[in-house]
Amino acid sequence: MDVRVFGVVGAGQMGNGIAQVAAASGLEVIMNDIKEEFVQKGLKTIDANLERGVAKGRIRADEKAAILGRIKPSTALEDMARADFVVEAATEREDLKFGIFRELDAVCPSAAILATNTSSIPIGRIAAQTGRPEKVIGMHFMNPVPVMKLVEVIRGLATSDETFALTWSLSERFGKTPAQANDYPGFIANRILMPMINEAVYCLYHGVGTAEDIDTVMKLGMNHPMGPLALADLIGLDTCLAIMETLNDGFRDSKYRPCPLLRKYVEAGWLGRKTGRGFYAYDRKP
Ligand code: CAA
Repeated sequence: MDVRVFGVVGAGQMGNGIAQVAAASGLEVIMNDIKEEFVQKGLKTIDANLERGVAKGRIRADEKAAILGRIKPSTALEDMARADFVVEAATEREDLKFGIFRELDAVCPSAAILATNTSSIPIGRIAAQTGRPEKVIGMHFMNPVPVMKLVEVIRGLATSDETFALTWSLSERFGKTPAQANDYPGFIANRILMPMINEAVYCLYHGVGTAEDIDTVMKLGMNHPMGPLALADLIGLDTCLAIMETLNDGFRDSKYRPCPLLRKYVEAGWLGRKTGRGFYAYDRKP
């Protein structure tokens, strides 16, 4: 199967990054969100990222224009009727994703593959919302998408070999290195990353250290590019909490208990960079 038109549902921090790398690989992209302003904000982010590439001499101005020209804005899921491959990158909420997959299943061509960028919801549960579970797969990009090399490709119980092979080769076409994971809560990336972040929040909660000291220990002591609390702010504290809840519900093992302080921050609307406040304060909303 040849992928020509690539759909992305969600134009937020993950969705616009995925749209950018897909358009840069030469595909026509439909970037969808529920409101025009969200799509425009996503396009603005892509424009700024590409402009940095031009300023640094990585791409020419005409290449930037061509990449942007391949991204078609959309606010109606029916636009995905033209797509050969769709990645859903909406908010990490099960009910929301289920609804999107039911709608995509109804509007997309029967041969189209429906992938999800979910960071933790079981692929099998999402696939069961559709009449094509063999064409449903996890395609989990890392944030910031244009920079991070990994795509975690997750097979659901019913995912076909053909769907898997196509998703794998598409990841490579986007300049990424895929790794295969099976469908257990958190897959590989978040099964390991999120308990580490949660433990860093526990360190703050118990007064073991300040946010700065906790992050300094991990940056300089373990050579992590950023500390776990700064990384949580980048990912979004609501997403971190949702992933911990999924691990906790999925394994029923107390080692996955979300830190009460993480919950408190989320309830207060301190979601990290996107709201200007998380474990750190940010000057402005990015
Ligand atoms: N979008 C696009 N490009 C970005 C970017 C963004 N949001 N943030 C940084 N960059 C680019 C910069 O422009 C810069 O490019 P050049 O080399 O061309 O100048 C490059 O990345 C390096 O950036 P900086 O010099 O500003 O800063 P840095 O060297 O500290 O790198 C970082 C920034 C790439 C974010 C680095 O700190 C890092 O790798 N952090 C860890 C990120 C990580 O762990 N991500 C995974 C999160 S988990 C996840 O996504 C999955 C999930 O399900 C929760």
